[in-house]
Amino acid sequence: MKFLGGIMKKALAKVLIVMVAALMLSVPLTAQAKELTGELEIFSWWAGDEGPALQALIDIYKTQNPGVKVINARVTGGSGVNARAVLKTRMLGGEPPESFQVHAGQELIGTWVKSDRMEDLTPLFTEMGWTEVFPEGLIKLIGTDKGIWSVPVTIHRSNVMWYIPANLKKWGVEAPKTWDDFFAIAPKLKAAGVMPLSIAENWTINHLWESVALDSLGADNWDALWSGKLKFDSPEGIEAWALLGKILEYTNSDASSLSWQQATDMVIDGRAAFNVMGDWAAGYMFTTKKMAPGKDFGWIASPGTGGDFMFLADSFGLPKGVKNRDNAIAWLKVLGSKEGSDTFNPIKGSISARTDTDLSKYNDYLKSAAADFGKDRVVGSLAHGVAANETFTGGFSSIMEMFLKSRNAEFAAKACQQLANKAGI
Ligand code: GAL
Repeated sequence: MKFLGGIMKKALAKVLIVMVAALMLSVPLTAQAKELTGELEIFSWWAGDEGPALQALIDIYKTQNPGVKVINARVTGGSGVNARAVLKTRMLGGEPPESFQVHAGQELIGTWVKSDRMEDLTPLFTEMGWTEVFPEGLIKLIGTDKGIWSVPVTIHRSNVMWYIPANLKKWGVEAPKTWDDFFAIAPKLKAAGVMPLSIAENWTINHLWESVALDSLGADNWDALWSGKLKFDSPEGIEAWALLGKILEYTNSDASSLSWQQATDMVIDGRAAFNVMGDWAAGYMFTTKKMAPGKDFGWIASPGTGGDFMFLADSFGLPKGVKNRDNAIAWLKVLGSKEGSDTFNPIKGSISARTDTDLSKYNDYLKSAAADFGKDRVVGSLAHGVAANETFTGGFSSIMEMFLKSRNAEFAAKACQQLANKAGI
């Protein structure tokens, strides 16, 4: 019996070993995810009013990975104007964050991919089936022939004009469909003590320029600028600057000291009639200010650009040599997931970059943006990294500074062409 007992013990031990081995093999993804420890540093410019959507994503990540300490590193400054400079110092200094916000397009490809600082995410895209759910055109923007370099999380629209319907009614004006419509009502608004159009710090004027240029040039010529087929100092190029100059006559003079939110506040408070801004302004109005889209605030494509959707996309990549690579990959998985996307975007004021989005989670503004994105002519934003690399966008800001002082359209257009030559456009 003893002997038999010994055999039974051995058999039992074998069964146990097999069971444990089987268990170890079948635990993989979830248990592995739960086991993640250490830190995850997420670097972005989504601070303050822009924070809640990111926080909702971090909450999902924390539920899935309770052992990871998330460092939400934010550098304030709309459109990443300050964050990009800090990021550059860190990347070049060999201290990359685990993942950072970057615009899809030339801002990503022309900078960090070109200098070979990013990991190819093709295996992740294949594993998660993302090549099927992100639009082909978008994957082209975040990819090269050597790989796919970031995970897109938003589709934002740049060419939108915002207003308060009740205020327009009070002032007896309508939202302008063209800049001529705007020029027709602007003197009346000014006479009533209302600033026709609010603007803020330098980059918001670059942002206005791209909407104005899209109208003035048309979508084909807009694209031709970036493929080098149309010169910036062509008569069409000069005309876009001249139109901006005319519009600036009806804007506030304290712009350089204001954030984009403060320019939106001018519209909300009735100090200004209109503001041209990306649809994070909608997010600000409905998430921060609790205003109802269509009722408390209204929107129209920026003058002359109805039927065009100037887009940009925020994305996150994986720099080479990060300290906690697995934590970063788990973060990218949350970002690209349907749950992550449909949690983040309805708060942020953007539409999902995925094609299988659950529209019932989105409000009326976002539903209308999604419908337009599906049917409009889609072009890329300059101010938010799609159309040109950082050599161009950085130089463009200086040209804008000069233009604000000189108002010389021809000079600005010529300077743009010289910059384009330098930036390889
Ligand atoms: C854009 C960015 C948006 C929003 C905006 C204002 O460049 O893509 O997500 O953050 O800047 O900061």
